[in-house]
Amino acid sequence: MKRSLRYQHWMLILLILAVPVFAHEEAPRAKRPPAPVPPAELYRPTAVPDRIILTWQGDPARTQSVTWRTDTSVTEAIAQITTADPGPKFTDRIQTVNAVTTPLTTDLGTAHYHTARFENLTPSTKYVYRVGDGTNWSEWIHFRTASDKPEPFSFIYFGDAQNDIKSLWSRVAREAFSDSPRARFIIHAGDLINRANNDAEWGEWFYGAGWVNAMIPSIPTPGNHEYASVREGERNVRQLSKHWRPQFALPENGVSGLEETCYYLDYQGVRIISLNSNEMRDEQTPWLESVLKNNPNRWTILTFHHPIFSSAKNRDNPELRAAWKPILDKYRVDLVLQGHDHTYARSNYNLGVNTNDPKSGTVYVVSVSGPKMYNLNRQSWMKRVAEDTQLYQIIHINGDTLEYEARTATGALYDSFVIKKRPGRPNQLVERMPNNAPERLRPPAPATSRRSSRR
Ligand SMILES: [Fe+2]
Ligand SMILES: [Fe+2]
Repeated sequence: MKRSLRYQHWMLILLILAVPVFAHEEAPRAKRPPAPVPPAELYRPTAVPDRIILTWQGDPARTQSVTWRTDTSVTEAIAQITTADPGPKFTDRIQTVNAVTTPLTTDLGTAHYHTARFENLTPSTKYVYRVGDGTNWSEWIHFRTASDKPEPFSFIYFGDAQNDIKSLWSRVAREAFSDSPRARFIIHAGDLINRANNDAEWGEWFYGAGWVNAMIPSIPTPGNHEYASVREGERNVRQLSKHWRPQFALPENGVSGLEETCYYLDYQGVRIISLNSNEMRDEQTPWLESVLKNNPNRWTILTFHHPIFSSAKNRDNPELRAAWKPILDKYRVDLVLQGHDHTYARSNYNLGVNTNDPKSGTVYVVSVSGPKMYNLNRQSWMKRVAEDTQLYQIIHINGDTLEYEARTATGALYDSFVIKKRPGRPNQLVERMPNNAPERLRPPAPATSRRSSRR
């Protein structure tokens, strides 16, 4: 009996000792989350071209510029071009163009940006090009020159991309491309990214539309988020992102001091004007007037970031409106494409005080393509609005008709209208809003009255 008790005693001690061991082994080990890949590694340039983007510095019918990025080992970059051919043997007749290289030191390191300018191209022609250093090349990529005459075409317009660009903007960019793969250019109405000099955000932006940027030229205008506060002597000044000019080769036909942010170009009977609504607004006013006065194109489309008519609360821009709207009215600008307010609002012609001029027939749009959303401030001039909705727009111009479509991130038609030119008279606006697309508004915040909180 005594012996059996002793045995039991030892068994108990062993059990007590063993429990923590088993418990330790059986308890789920707290897993460490995987470490994020550091941006400096993720967006490190190599000798192989990346961030390839088409833009125009000159006439879209006869020129095309391409810009790309490499590491600093590439000091003599080149581009090659010829007319596109169904067969692969076009490489027998290529022309080589030397690029201009600009070093850019960012928060992630130093890279080289290279711009090659193709000139003396034939209008309405499909070309094939590649960029590189003679050893490390991009793929061969197609683009098409504009016609030198008014001809039908489509283009894409995006409001602010700005936040979570890789995660949540890319789907909008790709949906837009899927909808209009033959679009001739893409207008970005500012706030492409959130922090002007953040290289990783630019990396996300280039990732978002990927190789589409190398096929379809971009027309970007800067938003306030393309400006960074920089110390200059005793004070802080706001300066254009140091990425902007090295990575976008744009016309320098605007106001001096606003090179590549204030400019215009003509595409198949349409004058596209980018104004820089961030600075030197008064200096741009007489320039805008001269560019509108001497305009042989049938259509005029303006893009700038801060809206003439704001769609969000406490964000009105009365000074901007006072400076530019009389000129827009006088010269009957057809369409104004804006961003900044992170909502959707599209105007009618003739509603409200201090809003649109029925004699001018200008349609104003504020849109947003990224995920950051504000509250709408509904006003009488608004014909179609949305909150909490990522959108892209496709605009088609054919002779005297402009067809506009705003589609949601899922590709559903949300807003549509047609503008018709009428010689000697203001434009006619024809509504084509879809019947089966209810207004998308943010649900009201849940009531938090004392009575309900006591329950
Ligand atoms: Fe903005
Ligand atoms: Fe914005």
